[in-house]
Amino acid sequence: MYVALVLRECQVGYEVARELGLEVVSLHEKEFPDGELYVRILEPAKVASKHIIVFSTLYPRQERTLLKTLLAVDAAKRAGAVEVTAVISYLAYSRQDKVFLPGEPVSASIVVELLRSVGVDSLVTVDVHSPRVLESFQGRSLNIMVSDLLVKRALNYLKDPVVVAPDRGALERACHAARAHVLLCDYLIKQRDRVTGEVSYVPREVSVSGRDVVIIDDIISTGGTVAEATRTLLSRGAERVVVAAAHGLLVEGAVKKLEESGVYRVLLANTLGVRHAHPLVDYVDISSRLASELKKYLGL
Ligand code: R5P
Repeated sequence: MYVALVLRECQVGYEVARELGLEVVSLHEKEFPDGELYVRILEPAKVASKHIIVFSTLYPRQERTLLKTLLAVDAAKRAGAVEVTAVISYLAYSRQDKVFLPGEPVSASIVVELLRSVGVDSLVTVDVHSPRVLESFQGRSLNIMVSDLLVKRALNYLKDPVVVAPDRGALERACHAARAHVLLCDYLIKQRDRVTGEVSYVPREVSVSGRDVVIIDDIISTGGTVAEATRTLLSRGAERVVVAAAHGLLVEGAVKKLEESGVYRVLLANTLGVRHAHPLVDYVDISSRLASELKKYLGL
């Protein structure tokens, strides 16, 4: 028997629970006057002896949403849950999945180890930055790809686009989406200054002249990566460029940066606890994909 707990920020979690016909047991979430967080399962008896699916997202306020998730999992275990699956639509800190500069931590493995330490048996996420992140989780895990859904929406705007990864590491994601729609995929070679964060592109032959393009990435944060990639592709003769990512943080004036770079549309999945209202930005609802993948994964 499965029961859901949904953290307030994870709107998509409510949708998935509804699609799966799961009972959602209410959580009381509050912040103490000094800023500390508190979570309580309102009907703990409904959790006892059940497989609990905790739906959460680690954005916005990554540290606080992570802590609330840990508290909810701990509460579920203490209330007698026999198994906990955490479905975290955005797994923050995934980009620091290795030591890039001497002296750095591996933040991604700390996050998954914390989840494991409170009792997460199985970890599910969406379009994780790299497979390495889930490999460091000592339990079952699943990464649900949604880039094909983003490309499907891009086809409303574009004609026979080339799907382009903004860097070599994102190529598998782009090709997965391209294959689903029988499109070509290719990649750019990105250089990022690890200290300033500045992005630039190394010349590489990508045949986009006269073609529409979809750039697929996992995260758009400041927009620097996809804005620079868009400029590069437009300068090589691309027609319209749609940029798409599962997780659209869009911080530090990202939307303006994207507008200025000549992006035609920004497509995002609804994985976060924030939405950006702007004519350039379009959201793709991934709840049905999450529901069908969870159904298979958990044998629901
Ligand atoms: C980095 O490796 C990620 O896949 C994204 O490309 C990056 O996080 C995007 O960040 P920004 O929008 O700030 O360039």
